[in-house]
Amino acid sequence: MNRWSKVMLCVLGLTWQTYGWADGAKLYTAKLCHTCHGANGAKPIMPLYPKLCGQSAEYLKQQSLLIKSGKRNSGMSAAMMAMVSAVTEAEFDQIAKFLEGAPCSDSAPEASKAKKK
Ligand code: HEC
Repeated sequence: MNRWSKVMLCVLGLTWQTYGWADGAKLYTAKLCHTCHGANGAKPIMPLYPKLCGQSAEYLKQQSLLIKSGKRNSGMSAAMMAMVSAVTEAEFDQIAKFLEGAPCSDSAPEASKAKKK
């Protein structure tokens, strides 16, 4: 019991050290997310690829993990699955927090178009 507490503290400490200052924006680029979802997750390279900017961080993280694990395997998710096999939960967390606040610079015109229909 005591030994496990120490192990957990050690793991927590390492995690904090590794990710405490990790910048979600840098991870987003370093992990190549932008190559499909575009800068800030605002301009995906294909219409079938989703925009991620402004989406809630909890949802983004959840869906990232579902795609990575293969539980979400419909649509185009196979395209992403292999690319994110080495991305950790903590990294997805940081990236999701960055994307939640990322600007969707090109979303306004489409939104107003949709409203007119
Ligand atoms: C090879 C292209 C590719 C790469 C690289 C990629 N993705 Fe994706 N991503 C996709 C596609 C395609 C989908 C849509 C899957 C579907 O159709 O269900 C998707 C879906 C998502 C979703 C779900 C969005 C929603 O609205 O449900 C999230 C979140 C996401 N990606 C985050 C990321 C993150 C974070 C990274 C980087 C670590 C990343 N993606 C890298 C192609 C990619």
